[in-house]
Amino acid sequence: MFGLFFLSTLSTFPIHLARAVSTPDDFSGIGQITVINSSDWRTADPKKDTVGCLDDHGQISLADCGTFARLKDYPWTLSSKIGNCSFTDKTMPTNNESWYGKSDHAWSCDPSYVAEIYDELYTIGGFPYTFLCWGDVACYYDAKTVPSKESPKSWLWQYRWGSQQRDITPGHTMIQLIWNKTGDLPKREDVVPAPGPRVFVNEKQTPLLQGQGIQ
Ligand SMILES: *[C@@H]1O[C@H](CO)[C@@H](O)[C@H](O)[C@H]1NC(C)=O
Ligand SMILES: *[C@@H]1O[C@H](CO)[C@@H](O)[C@H](O)[C@H]1NC(C)=O
Ligand SMILES: *[C@@H]1O[C@H](CO)[C@@H](O)[C@H](O)[C@H]1NC(C)=O
Ligand SMILES: *[C@@H]1O[C@H](CO)[C@@H](O)[C@H](O)[C@H]1NC(C)=O
Repeated sequence: MFGLFFLSTLSTFPIHLARAVSTPDDFSGIGQITVINSSDWRTADPKKDTVGCLDDHGQISLADCGTFARLKDYPWTLSSKIGNCSFTDKTMPTNNESWYGKSDHAWSCDPSYVAEIYDELYTIGGFPYTFLCWGDVACYYDAKTVPSKESPKSWLWQYRWGSQQRDITPGHTMIQLIWNKTGDLPKREDVVPAPGPRVFVNEKQTPLLQGQGIQ
């Protein structure tokens, strides 16, 4: 799941950076998910680039922000009051305009879905914000539109690219998700730390973390 991933460890991370730096443990508890227009995490700025937030169904919304909770043990997945969230619901719209994402279903929260480890989102230490990644270090997503007064909600899919479509789906917007923690889950003794890449990136040596490339 986390193959081909060669990044520095905490010990080599420059601790003199002025900006706040996120750690994997910042993605926990209860929070909202901010959606930003971004194709490069190094320059992404939620103050300038925010286009909305995710609602309880998993749709991008202008202001109807949902509340999500991350399971504090296996499989460390997200749920809203609607249910567990994943890319697996086959009743959700497909990314039909994308060359590689034609059969992908939109991220959504489903009342009857039992989440699995493949549904886990995670973050990577060293990010300036708690960006949420999926699968093989895919830290960007594909949105058909961003919300506007005319079209207040929009779905998001995995961002996939390859030789037939090197960039975001034409006409779509490349986005990133940021965890905006608002609280903790009730305390419990048997917390199991989430797996995922316990590694750190910095702006000088990192790849762009666009994990869904198809050769
Ligand atoms: C997090 O939420 C707070 C309160 O709603 C808001 O003021 C802040 O701008 C949000 N931060 C991000 C990165 O979206
Ligand atoms: C997203 O950002 C890019 C680059 O700044 C800009 O060209 C584009 O218009 C923005 N898209 C939306 C939907 O705001
Ligand atoms: C994708 O689906 C939408 C909505 O069903 C449809 O309007 C559009 O023509 C489709 N586009 C392609 C490229 O198939
Ligand atoms: C959501 O997924 C978790 C983890 O698999 C599971 O324990 C829980 O029962 C699921 N919730 C529902 C409503 O199916």
